[in-house]
Amino acid sequence: MRWNLAFTIAAALVTLVSAVFDAETGFTFSQYNAAYAIGKSITFRIAVPANVPENASYDSVIQIAAPTDVGWGGLAWGGKMINNPLSVAWQNAQSAVISSRWAPSHSTPQTYTGAQYTVLRTGTRTNGTYWQVTAKCSGCTSFNDVSGRRVILNSRGSNRLAFAYSRARPSQPSSNSSSFPVHEVTNYWAHDFSQGVNSNFDALVTKNM
Ligand code: HEM
Repeated sequence: MRWNLAFTIAAALVTLVSAVFDAETGFTFSQYNAAYAIGKSITFRIAVPANVPENASYDSVIQIAAPTDVGWGGLAWGGKMINNPLSVAWQNAQSAVISSRWAPSHSTPQTYTGAQYTVLRTGTRTNGTYWQVTAKCSGCTSFNDVSGRRVILNSRGSNRLAFAYSRARPSQPSSNSSSFPVHEVTNYWAHDFSQGVNSNFDALVTKNM
């Protein structure tokens, strides 16, 4: 709890989400570095298509990059643990895995078929110091909340997102339905999706598959 408060205060003081061009994949991402310890962070990057019609759902590309001491890192698209799409990622051998989850309560999230991921080969790997996964997601930026209300994240503005970090690793890292232990750190931020708008979104997805 002390950690959470410190990070929240730090988060309020600096501009956190920036536009980053990833030369490797060609995507422009909105990027946030989520601190899980002093001087250490998991990077969450999100790319969205241009010309998304209002009130229509849309695909996104998520890139998660983390030092190898991160056992798993997760993004909560609705800004909280329960009842929203969760993207959970971890290292596996020379690569990395992304898992679609949903938590109806504060316990191990279930797998979630409402969001489908296509892992992009370019941008997904592990080296000696960090692991990274890049994937197209259909179903991350819209979902039905518990009251059945359709939630669509703002593709041109700010959305409240949350993350979770665990030092301990999943029990079966090669499987995206593996169970994993609870997090040590969680936090929230406002993520400006307009920093990661891509007019050539579909072509870039195809190129990196
Ligand atoms: C084994 C899996 C997990 C367990 C057992 C678990 C358990 C819990 C519990 C008990 C809390 C409440 C803590 C408190 O009230 O202080 C909590 C909060 C939280 N968890 Fe998890 N969690 C798990 C996985 C995840 C994942 C995968 C994510 C995100 C991708 C996540 C995101 C959060 C966030 C953001 C909070 C802050 C409070 C909230 O938004 O509800 N958790 N978790």
